[in-house]
Amino acid sequence: MPPLSPPASPTALTQSPAWKALRDHHGRTAGQHMRDLFAADPGRAQRFGLEAAGLHLDYSKQRITAETLPLLLGLAAQQQIPDRIRQMFAGDDINFTEHRPALHVALRAETGVPFLDEVRAVRQSMYALAESLRSGSVPGTSGTKGGTTGGTVHVINLGIGGSDLGPRLAAGALTRYTGPSLKAHFVTNVDPSDLDETLAGIAPENAFFIVTSKSFTTVETLSNAERARDWLKSRLGARFDPARHFAAVTSAPDAARAWGIPEAHVLPMWDWVGGRYSLWSAVGLAVAAAVGPQHFDELLAGARAMDEHFRSAPLERNMPVIMAALSLWNSVFHGAETQVVLPYCHELRDLPSYLQQLQMESNGKRVNKAGQPVDYPTSPVFWGSAGTVGQHSFHQLLHQGTHLIPADFIVPVNGPGDKEARHMLVANALAQASTLAVGADNADPHRVHPGNQPSNTILFDRLTPQSLGALIALYEHKVYAESILLDINAFDQWGVELGKKVAREIQSGAGSNLDASTLELMRRADALRKTS
Ligand code: F6P
Repeated sequence: MPPLSPPASPTALTQSPAWKALRDHHGRTAGQHMRDLFAADPGRAQRFGLEAAGLHLDYSKQRITAETLPLLLGLAAQQQIPDRIRQMFAGDDINFTEHRPALHVALRAETGVPFLDEVRAVRQSMYALAESLRSGSVPGTSGTKGGTTGGTVHVINLGIGGSDLGPRLAAGALTRYTGPSLKAHFVTNVDPSDLDETLAGIAPENAFFIVTSKSFTTVETLSNAERARDWLKSRLGARFDPARHFAAVTSAPDAARAWGIPEAHVLPMWDWVGGRYSLWSAVGLAVAAAVGPQHFDELLAGARAMDEHFRSAPLERNMPVIMAALSLWNSVFHGAETQVVLPYCHELRDLPSYLQQLQMESNGKRVNKAGQPVDYPTSPVFWGSAGTVGQHSFHQLLHQGTHLIPADFIVPVNGPGDKEARHMLVANALAQASTLAVGADNADPHRVHPGNQPSNTILFDRLTPQSLGALIALYEHKVYAESILLDINAFDQWGVELGKKVAREIQSGAGSNLDASTLELMRRADALRKTS
C-alpha cells in the first residue's frame, strides 16, 4: 500500500506567477505593523471598506498594503474566479468529484438560474405545511384546536450537520419574529439525552417532528426518529396518527415513505444542493413554521441580494471574493492555522457552529482538482463564540498569546431592548478589533499588547431576516471563492464516511481488525455496560 500521505510535491498553483508574486510580497512586507500602516495612510479605513446587500465590510485591520489586494486579485483572476462564479449560477458541475452542480442559489433566486419551477413548487408545499402548523391544524389527535390541546405547538426538527445547523441558526437568530403559539426545537445528537430533554414537558398531542435528512440514512437522525415515534405511540396509543405528527425533508422520498412518513408530508431535496448549503430549501421548514412564510421570504431575499452582488460585482469590490482572498493571505502566507468568528449579538450565538461546518466540511481538503496532494494549507480551523462572552474566556490568548488568529467581528448596531446595553456591546466589539490591531506598549513585559492581529468587521444596522440571509450567503460565497483560490472542491465530503463505517463495526462488535487501542477500549466499555 502506498504511504498514506506522501510528502506533497510542488503543485502548479504554488509554482504559478500569481502565487510566487504573493510569496515575494509577503517576504517584503511581513514585518510591517498595522499601527504603522494606519499612521502612514489616514484614508486607510475608507480605502479598505465596501458595501454589499446592506452589510459594510471594514477590512482595513488586515496585514495588507496598497499592493497586497491587487496581487491577491491577480490570483483570483488567474484562478478564473469570474468564470467559476458564472458556472455556479449556470448549474455546471462545480462539484467536480460528484459531478453535480452546487445550486443553492436556485433556492432563493427569482430568475436566471435552472430548476426554479421545482424550487417554487416545493417552497409552496413547505409554506402550506408551515401555515398548518402555525394554525395548530396538523399536530395532535385529540384536544380542542385542530387536534392539539390548544396549547403551544412544538415543532421538533430531527437532523444533524446541514440538516440541523442552518435551521437552528436561523430559528435562534429570528426568535423575535416568532410567537407564543408555536415553538421550534432542534434535536441533533444520538445521545438520548438530547431528545429526552426536549420532550420533557411537551404534550405528545402538540408535538410535530420533522425528520430532516438528505440521505435518509444518517443513523443519528433515524435513531431519534424511531425513539420519537415510540414516545408518541406510548403516550397516544391508538390515537397515534403519523399524519398528524411527522414530516420528512429528504432526497430519498421512497425511504421516507417506507419509514412511515405520510406522502403529503414528504418534502423533497435535490442532489444539487449540499446539506450545509440547504437552509433555504425545505430544510428550513421549522424556521418557516416558527417565523412564518413572509419572514422566510425576507431571509431568501437577503441571500438573493448577496447572490446578485457576488454574481455582478467586480473582483475588487466583491465582498465574498475579498474575504476569501484575505482568508488565504492570512492562512497560507501568514501561517494562521485558525480563524475566529465573533458575533457581537446574542441571537447569532449559533453562527460559529454553523460556520464550522460550512467552512471546514467545505474546505477541509488535502487534494486538489487534479487529484494531487496539495503543498499548502487549505481551510483554517474555524471557531468562535458570541461577544462579549469570549472576552472573558479566550481573548487573553488573542491579545497576548503566541498564535496569529484572524478574527471576523459581526456587529449589528441596533436591536431590541436596552439601548445603553446594546451600545456597550458595540463599543466592546470595536474596542477589541482596535486593540488587537494596534496593541499597546508597556514598560512591564507582562503588560505589553503586541497587536497586529488582523480582523474583518462586518457592520450593519440590525439583525433581520434580510440581513441574516445576506450574512449567511456572504459566507457561503466566501467559502466557494476560497476553494477556487485553493484549487479544491468545496462541495464534497468524502472524509465523513470512514468514521461512520467503523462506528457500525464497533457497535455490531464486528471490529476485529481494529487497532489494539480501540479493541481494548471496546472491551472496557463492554465491561462497564454490563455493570449498568
Ligand atoms: O457530516 C456528514 C453529513 O453528510 C453532512 O454533510 C450532512 O449535512 C449531515 O451529514 C447530515 O446528512 P443527512 O442530511 O443526509 O442526514
